[in-house]
Amino acid sequence: MEYRNLGRTGVRVSELCLGCMMFGGRTGEEDSFGIIDRAIDAGINFVDTANVYSTGASEEVVGKALRKNGKRDSVVLATKVHGPMGDDPNARGNHRRHIIEQCEASLRRLQVEHFDLYQIHRPDSHIPIDETLRALDDLIRAGKVRYAGTSTYAAWQLVEALWAAKELGLNRFVCEQPPYHLLDRRIERELVPFAQTYGTALIPWSPLAGGFLTGKYSRDESQSPEDSRYGLEPRRLGRNHFTDEAFDVLETVQAIAEEKGCNPGQLALAWCKDKPGVTSAIIGPRTMEQLEDNLGALEVSLDEGDHERLDAVAPPGRATVPYYDADFGPHPFRW
Ligand SMILES: NC(=O)c1ccc[n+]([C@@H]2O[C@H](COP(=O)([O-])OP(=O)(O)OC[C@H]3O[C@@H](n4cnc5c(N)ncnc54)[C@H](OP(=O)(O)O)[C@@H]3O)[C@@H](O)[C@H]2O)c1
Repeated sequence: MEYRNLGRTGVRVSELCLGCMMFGGRTGEEDSFGIIDRAIDAGINFVDTANVYSTGASEEVVGKALRKNGKRDSVVLATKVHGPMGDDPNARGNHRRHIIEQCEASLRRLQVEHFDLYQIHRPDSHIPIDETLRALDDLIRAGKVRYAGTSTYAAWQLVEALWAAKELGLNRFVCEQPPYHLLDRRIERELVPFAQTYGTALIPWSPLAGGFLTGKYSRDESQSPEDSRYGLEPRRLGRNHFTDEAFDVLETVQAIAEEKGCNPGQLALAWCKDKPGVTSAIIGPRTMEQLEDNLGALEVSLDEGDHERLDAVAPPGRATVPYYDADFGPHPFRW
């Protein structure tokens, strides 16, 4: 396992991060404990959850697991705030009231004194960035949070945030969590150069396009495995990936994987975690078998010829699927 600096912080995180979106939801508690323990034993020291994942249940499972295995101190623990946590109009968003209230709630659910990375799950153009930054800065100064980050922000929004933090003498965002995989390479246009210029860590979500790049779906949608994400929700996220262009990308991934003696998911994951600007790719295993399989990506590397073949079907900077926000639905305005 390789460890990389989380942006300019000097904190070292593993090249794979354990995403916990399935825990407390489709993955039961005992299975989640097993996956978390195995990931840590394999060298993963970076764990990502969010308050909205199964409305707090994911954080609760992660908290229990880290209590049980006693590994909290060796883990860089990340969570998020922004999404709705109830019907109350103030129980959402990037305002001071909600951020501080949810930080306290997440600390309780995770059973910790502090967490290491607090991410604003989505930008909110209706709330001035200084309101959000000052709330996060107060939490950092109070010792409840070590660092602040973002998710799915545009490069211009992050530059604005850096400028505001400097102007106001506040802690800056150190990390951004964007969607990035072989079917969606839009971050290469502006976000990657931004991150490289300003020393911001990038920790991509959905490196397997939600499982599509494992090759378990076929052009004929009726054959989607029943217990799979897109088998369960064919009309939601899945349909976006089921384009001819996306299957053309998958076929190239499958061909290169076969030549290398790995499987397509491992190749796609290796591609993502080793792309320039990427600090750690966030995997989202639902089962222990999937985790073991994902870990196999650590043995895979791509050469220049592999990249050229992939660039030919999945051009740099482009998306071959329409954007769909896995956590919050469609956002047609984004990028
Ligand atoms: N910031 C954000 O807005 C945001 C959004 C989404 C996710 N995230 C974070 O990123 C993490 C990863 O996202 P993701 O779950 O979408 O990642 P992903 O790696 O693209 O997809 C993971 C899913 O693919 C399937 N899968 C994984 N390994 C497999 C294998 N070996 N064989 C067959 N199927 C396999 C599983 O789904 P099925 O078995 O159910 O098909 C699994 O849940 C999440 O846990 C969360 O922490 C963040």
